[in-house]
Amino acid sequence: MELKDLRKNLRGKAISIEGGDGSGKGTLIKNIKKEFEKNEIDTIFTREPGGTNISEQIRNVILSKENTEMSPVTEMILYAAARAQHFEELIVPTLKSGKLLILDRFIDSNYVYQGFVRGLGIDKVMAVNKIAIGDWLPDLTIILDIDPVIGLNRIKNNGRETNRLDLQDLEFHNKVREGYYKIAEMFPQRIKMIDASQTPEKVLDDTIKTIIDFFEKKDE
Ligand code: TYD
Repeated sequence: MELKDLRKNLRGKAISIEGGDGSGKGTLIKNIKKEFEKNEIDTIFTREPGGTNISEQIRNVILSKENTEMSPVTEMILYAAARAQHFEELIVPTLKSGKLLILDRFIDSNYVYQGFVRGLGIDKVMAVNKIAIGDWLPDLTIILDIDPVIGLNRIKNNGRETNRLDLQDLEFHNKVREGYYKIAEMFPQRIKMIDASQTPEKVLDDTIKTIIDFFEKKDE
């Protein structure tokens, strides 16, 4: 099956894209956009934290370099608060309209960064998110997996502006990777891993294949 044959299966579905800093998530999403436009798949692209005016304002508070003393619990709740607004204002209406939704980060970032890396525990993050979005989850989640040494070198080489979380040390990024492995193990049906150390073209190719494979089965 090809992407264009999947149009019907992708209506009202959601795919989240996850990955550590420097995994090439931004590049992949740009390439997905081009590919989906070419294939006339009606898609809305959004990001977390953010996606709506209020959620973007919450994002500014969370990611501000001035707020380094923010406690992990505050951080967890603020991410979930941004998500609650995003869900009600953008996600639900988009899915109802029959469009496909691509999310640049979603709940798994919360599980990994606050639940696992900051050590709050996945259960707490799940409980807060249950309040924010109920039982809803994306249909498919793609995690871009890369050795943080390679990922961080990419950031250094392309001179991208760093935010507060980029400034953490290598140990932090290794823990993020480990967290993603754990989450992928917890949700094997929903989550698929892709080797992000490959060329952008190959990463896009693997992603499209994964999407086709996943949603073609939903037709059976
Ligand atoms: P951003 O600059 O968008 O990073 P990236 O390009 O890597 O997506 O910053 C988002 C940061 O927020 C990122 O470091 C991951 C973090 N994050 C959490 O810690 N918890 C969450 O629930 C979400 C959605 C993001």
